[in-house]
Parts: sequence; structure tokens; C-alpha cells
Amino acid sequence: MKPLNYRSIILICLLVITSILFAKTNVTNLVCEYHINPIGIDVEKPRFSWQLSSVETNIKQTAYEIRVANSSTNFDSKNLLWSSGKMSSDNSVNVEYQGINLKSMQRAYWQVRVWDNKNTVSKWSEPAYWETGILDPTRWIAKWITMKGKENIGQAFYLRNEFQATKKITSARVYVTSLGLYQLFINGKKVSTDLFTPGWTSYHKRLQYQTYDVTDLLISKKNNTVGAIIGEGWYGGKLGWTKNRTFNAKQLALLAQLEIKYADGTSQTIVSDENWKASRGAIIESSIYDGETYNAQLENSGWSSNGFDDSAWTKTETVEYPKNKLVAPQSVVVKAIQEIKPIKIIKTPRAETVFDMGQNMVGWVRLKVKGNKGDTVTLKFAEVLDKEGNFYTENLRSVKSTDVYILKGNGEEVYEPHFTFHGFRFVKVEGFPAKVELDNITGVVIHSDMKPTGTFSCSDSLINKLQQNILWGQKGNFLDVPTDCPQRDERLGWTGDAQVFAMTAAFNYDVSAFFTKWMRDMEADQLPDGKIPHVIPNVLDMKTSSAAWADACVIVPWSVYKVYGDKRILEVQYNSMKAWVDFMKTSAGEKYLWISNTHFGDWLDYSSNITGFQKGNTDMDLIANAYFYHSTSLLAKIAGIIGRNADAQIYSKLAENVKKAFQREFVTANGRLVTQTQTAYSLAIAFGLLPDELIDNVGSLLAADVQKTGHLTTGFVGTPLLCNTLSAIGADSLAFKLVTRKKYPSWLYPVTQGATTIWERWDGQKPDGTFQTAKMNSFNHYAYGAIGEWLYSRVAGLNIDPENPGYKHIIFSPHVGGGFTNAKVEFLSLYGSIKSGWEIKDKSFVYSITIPANTTGTVILPITIAENILINSAPVSTEIKKNWISTTKEISFDLGSGNYQISFSFDSSK
Ligand code: BGC
Repeated sequence: MKPLNYRSIILICLLVITSILFAKTNVTNLVCEYHINPIGIDVEKPRFSWQLSSVETNIKQTAYEIRVANSSTNFDSKNLLWSSGKMSSDNSVNVEYQGINLKSMQRAYWQVRVWDNKNTVSKWSEPAYWETGILDPTRWIAKWITMKGKENIGQAFYLRNEFQATKKITSARVYVTSLGLYQLFINGKKVSTDLFTPGWTSYHKRLQYQTYDVTDLLISKKNNTVGAIIGEGWYGGKLGWTKNRTFNAKQLALLAQLEIKYADGTSQTIVSDENWKASRGAIIESSIYDGETYNAQLENSGWSSNGFDDSAWTKTETVEYPKNKLVAPQSVVVKAIQEIKPIKIIKTPRAETVFDMGQNMVGWVRLKVKGNKGDTVTLKFAEVLDKEGNFYTENLRSVKSTDVYILKGNGEEVYEPHFTFHGFRFVKVEGFPAKVELDNITGVVIHSDMKPTGTFSCSDSLINKLQQNILWGQKGNFLDVPTDCPQRDERLGWTGDAQVFAMTAAFNYDVSAFFTKWMRDMEADQLPDGKIPHVIPNVLDMKTSSAAWADACVIVPWSVYKVYGDKRILEVQYNSMKAWVDFMKTSAGEKYLWISNTHFGDWLDYSSNITGFQKGNTDMDLIANAYFYHSTSLLAKIAGIIGRNADAQIYSKLAENVKKAFQREFVTANGRLVTQTQTAYSLAIAFGLLPDELIDNVGSLLAADVQKTGHLTTGFVGTPLLCNTLSAIGADSLAFKLVTRKKYPSWLYPVTQGATTIWERWDGQKPDGTFQTAKMNSFNHYAYGAIGEWLYSRVAGLNIDPENPGYKHIIFSPHVGGGFTNAKVEFLSLYGSIKSGWEIKDKSFVYSITIPANTTGTVILPITIAENILINSAPVSTEIKKNWISTTKEISFDLGSGNYQISFSFDSSK
């Protein structure tokens, strides 16, 4: 053997050092309450999550230690607010802070280190932090202020105040909220890119305030100016088709408190009060539904900077409004997330000038225009063109969706509206003072700033387009609350829509914080008898509840628990869920049958397109009692999970009784149901409502119906269950048939018609180009996008184990069909990235998976003969063989964390 030369020795040393460095488990991606370094939160015992990273396989955390200190550089024991000590636990998600409660406006830093099953201990992580907001309402010394005048909604106004920061500033925070929407400025600069603050909640019960670090915007030892624009938004605006001013708002107002800390240890508090000045300005009309009118000639240039002459501005007056309803935000804020360039300019047969954005989107357009003073450009927004190719807005119902810009006439002017949004693909431009060019408008896409978490693709390009449309449906409708649609006179937090879409939503984006906030409003607006209003916030002021809609109060928290392992949401929402189930129980009476309530039924099912009957063909009482059972059995399970054992027993018993009553009332001895629809069969099977001996019969009836019709017949209730149920009864091929069907009714029919979002109706636009009734015809309604869950879990194979939620244990179970030759997902779980992707090539099946550290997986393969399985190119090890289960349908085995490529020969024609 040749002696090693100098270079090889260095190389070997490097390899050894690198492997030592990288073999170690590291702790990364620290989040607190689902946010990276949140400031201004009011959660008393915030929860910490972290990820383990390692290049080794089979990594599990065996213990962790967290320490929390007042400073990021001093974690000495004397300086600690809390030390968990070494805790033997594999828990790395949502671990609760157990130290002393923080005071208002206090920042704490935390670090964590872990031990793993390979006897390594990680380094301490980089410090992360969280900072509290105003925890004690008496700390609010700012006053609510408004512009003088009687009622001041409908038109935005401007507020300003100049003050002196007397000394050298070390840090500054502003705590701010409004009745209405606000935009805040300091020294001429916007304090943040957040939009639609303070967000939409059940305002009189919970009003959010925001906290911003404004240290860099202030000038030490000089004058500084704070300014705010206030618009009516949801609080003051008319909402719903009745266009009530739902919060009885008469006055819009601002509440702002600026806390400045100086280098000498002193501090100064600047608050909104009657010394601030107010004025009208360029926004002369502002409404969520109807749009904005902006007269640039009325701009007060420099209004939020020092030295502006505000002598013509009026004094403000104070408004009485309780401060004990103020809460810190839990969700993510709405932001401008993406920009879109129009793809063409169309001259319609009616000679309208229309920009085509190429995508049905939500937000507004940025207008770039040059012209004379007083020239007026009008922008109107529509989702579709009609059969003739003309601009079509009838489906917006009473909404105007119009932005008007009046030019000041000095060079290029750039305009974006402030407190409105539109749902549109087409923009009609009127009054443009020159020849319009593509460059004159840019689409600004806005939505809640959720982290994208899931991607799905497969070999079928139409299905990939469907997935894109599902994503766009979510982008357009996750705008601080989950809305039904973004364009007509609704845009409301319809509970049923969110309930059916929750699992799909939680794949595409991180919706943990988003739903956490919305569920608080659901509880706040729950009626005293336990009913859940149809929309949350309850701006329609309805006093009735519908099955499948109200059940959102149980199903959405349950979904958050499954995806993020979040027990707290179950604890926090428990009373609300229980009150709803108790309401159904009382309504059902001694026979455990909930009959003759008014419901939305299988809303907009296929039959509704034929008969105009929106509530569908499935017996309402059957749906109601199926959901009664479903929510009750989930409640029983939840009670067990959070240690309410007595309740767990009570509700299991109730669930049993409801099930028996269901069987007596709706199921014949041979398994026929009172209404023989796909929705009825799917509910009965998916919710576990049948006696064991009838499941096969009912399954055959469902399969027979799908075969006979050749298409789906379901509405909002049945659609999310249909393919999952077919797969569960072993009829994957039928599920694939439905999903790949291109003719109406189907998921792909709109795709073939050029849809770029999910439609509300199966036949929103008919093959001949005519539309469904304009009374109910949104082209951006995510509910039918609930098929996403089936694509990700069944086709690509990524499944949650509800016994080990949050993807702590992952079930990889791909299903092949529809002629697909590949499918893959990647999902960023709280533990890290999970991958599941398969490909069929040359009669072999190659399945690639990634299991993140501190999780485990069970792989279930759709084959029965195991002889030629290779894992990472090697025969199956004896270790893996230990948990090997082979049935007549499939083979399953367990794996620890790591990357695997599993291959075997496969004949897809069988
Ligand atoms: C909404 C729906 C909602 C339904 C209730 C509609 O007007 O747009 O999505 O769930 O009413 O029936």
C-alpha cells in the first residue's frame, strides 16, 4: 500500500472533522406560539417548538433542556427566568413555558438543547425571544380619538401629532389599534407593511392591537411626528347582502401608545389624545365592498412628517370605548404577498378596455398614470367575461368594486387603494388619459401571511392545475378570517366552508395561528344556548345554526390538533364544543334524533344545478344526525385527550345512542339509506355510523351509484368525503375516475374551461359560455377544493396518525391509479420537511420518502409480494423485517428518521 501523501491526510482530517461536526444533532427553527420571535403577545404560558437536524438516520430526542433569560447574552443561572432542567422527553413541539409570568412589555430570550438516542447532546441553540404586549388593561393610558363631527364612517380621515423625543433613544414600541382600519406612520414612513390592521374580530368582544418596534423610525433629541389614516373597514362598513352596519358603529377611532426608552434609563410615553389634529384628505370614499375614491389633489403632502402646517386641521375628540376587550394578535397579518403583471389588454365587443391579469386574484391593482389635473381614472373589477367576451359583474350582486383615482397632474402618478380589496381577473379601465399599456397596472395579491408548507404535483397536468387553483382559492379567501368568497356582498367567515376545507388548507399553508385566532371569535360569538352562528364574526346577526356549518367549532380545532399536535386549542375551545354538542343533544331530546331544524343541507350539490334547489337532494335530518354523531364522538375523544375523563365517558355513551338512533331512523336492514345519494352513503361510512355487517353493503351501493352516474352528485357536505370514502372501501379506481373526469360535473371541468380558482358551482360557467344564476355564482370559493386532502394523502401518500398527531408518526401510504405515473408531496411539518413521492418506470415502483428527525414512519405499500423490495438499494434489513406486516392487500413496515428510496417491481395494469 502506498503511504498517504500530505493532501490525502488533510482530506481525511477534514472528513473526520466534518463528520464530527455534522453527525451531531443540532437544534434549529425555534418558534414560540407558531411565530419566529413574536413581539406584543399576551399568551401567559407561551409554547416553544424546535426542530432537530441531523445527517444520521433513526434520530430521536430523548431529553431536552430549555432556559429563559432576560438577556440574549447572559444565560447564567442567576439571570434566568426559568430553567426546565433536563427533561426526559421526546417532545419538541409546543412545549409550555413554566417560568414566572412576564410583565407587560417584557422581552424574554430562550434557548434549548437536546439529547438524542445516539448519546449526543446538542449545542445550545441560538437564542430566540418573545416579548409581551400590554397585559394589564390599566397600562393603556392612551385615549380613543376621532375626528370631530357627527358620524364619521364612509370616508377616511387623517390624524397627526408632533412631539419631542427629549433624549437619546434606545428602544421604542408603539401599541396601536382602531375602531375601523388604520395605517400608521412615523416621520413620513409607514411603521409596517401589515395591511388591514387591526384585523377582523368580533370587535365588541375581542379587538386586536398591534405592537411595532419603531426604534429606527424615531429621531433622538428631535421632533418626531406620528400620523394615522383611519378607514371604515369591517368595523364601520356595511357587510352582508343586507348591508347592515353590523357593529353599530357610529364613530371610527384610533388608540395609540408610544413607549420610548432612553439611554439614561428614563422613558417617555406619547399617547393619542385630544391634542392630536385631524383632517379629511385624499381618500374621499372608502369601503371594503365598493372600493375607494382617491382625489390626489386633496393630498396633504408631508402630513405625517415634522413641520407640516396643520393649522387648518381640526382638533380631535375623545371617544369612550372599553379597553378591557383589547387582545394581542395570535394570527398572522395580511400583507401584499405577490405581484402579477397583466397578460393582455382586451377591447371587448362593447368597446370596453379590459386588462386580463391571467389569474383570478384578490387584492387590487397599482395604477401608473400620467395626465392632467382632474383627469379621472376608474377601475372596475370582474372575475369573468361573459359569453360574448364582455366585462361581467352581475355575480358581484350589490357590490360596486370600483376604485377611482383623480389625478393631481404633475408627472407620473402611482396609486394603490388603502382599505378595500377586490376579487378579480379582469380590470376595466375608464377615463385613462393616454393609450393604456400593460405596464400601467400591476396586480397586488394580498392575504394572511401564512407560511407555505405543502407542495403537491403529479404526472397529470390538469390535476396540477387543479392543485394550483386550490392554492389560489386559499390565497384569495384566507384574509384574516376564512371567507366564503372575496368578491360579492359576502366575503364572510362562513363556518361550513372553512370546516370542509380545513385539512386541505393545513396542507398548503401553516394555518395554526390563523385558525387559533378565528376559533376565539367563534367562541366569543357563540349564542348562550350553544348555537354557532353561520358566519364568524357574526356580522349577519343570525340566531340559527346549521349542521356541518356549526360543527366547525369541533372539527377545526380537531384539525389543528391533528396537523400541529396542538392540545391547547382543544383545551381552550372545549367549552365551546361542548356547548354546541349539548345544544344538539337538547334539540334531539330523549330519542337522540335531531329532526326538523333548518339547515343548509348538502349545499349546492349537483341536483341544485338542475332544479335550482340549493340545499341539495340528501335528507337534511340525515345530514344533521350524522354530524351530531360525528361531533359528539370527536368531543368524547377530545375529552379523553385533555384528561376530562368523566366527560369522555358521558359523550361516548351519547355518541353510541345517537348512532343507534341514526341506524333506526335512516338505515334499512339491508343498508339502504333514507336518501340514496353519494353524500348520504359517504357520511354513513366516513363517520362510522353503520353496524359492521352493513358497511360492505353500503359501500357497494355507493360504488354502484358512482358507476351508474359516472360522476359525482355531491355538494359542500358530501364533496370532501366522497373520494376518501371510495378509497377507504377499496374503490380507489372509482375515486381516480371521478377526479380525472373532465366533463361536467367534476373538479376538472372548470379547469378545462380555463378556471384559475375553484368555483362555487360545478357549472359556474356552462360549456356554452352562459352562467349559473348571478344570485349565487362565485368563481373563487374554496369549498370544493377540499379534494386537495385526498390528493395529498391518498395519491401522494402523506397521512397523519391521529394517535401521534402533528406528524410525530407519519403514515406513508401511496395509492396508484388514474394513469398517473408519478406523484409527490413535500410538507414542512413542525418537525421538519417530510417527503413522499413515487414514480413508476419500466415496471418498477420507486418510492422516495423523507422522515424528519424525532419522528417515525410506517410505510404501507400497495403490493403483496415482497421478495424484490430494495431499501436504499439494499435488501430489507433484519431490523426492518421485525415490524413487517404482510396482508392480502398490502405490506407495511416501520422506519426511523432519514431519507429512503424504496423500490420494487410493479405492474400498474394489475
Ligand atoms: C355562501 C356559502 C355559505 C352558504 C351557506 C353562501 O351564500 O357563499 O359559501 O356556506 O351561503 O349556505
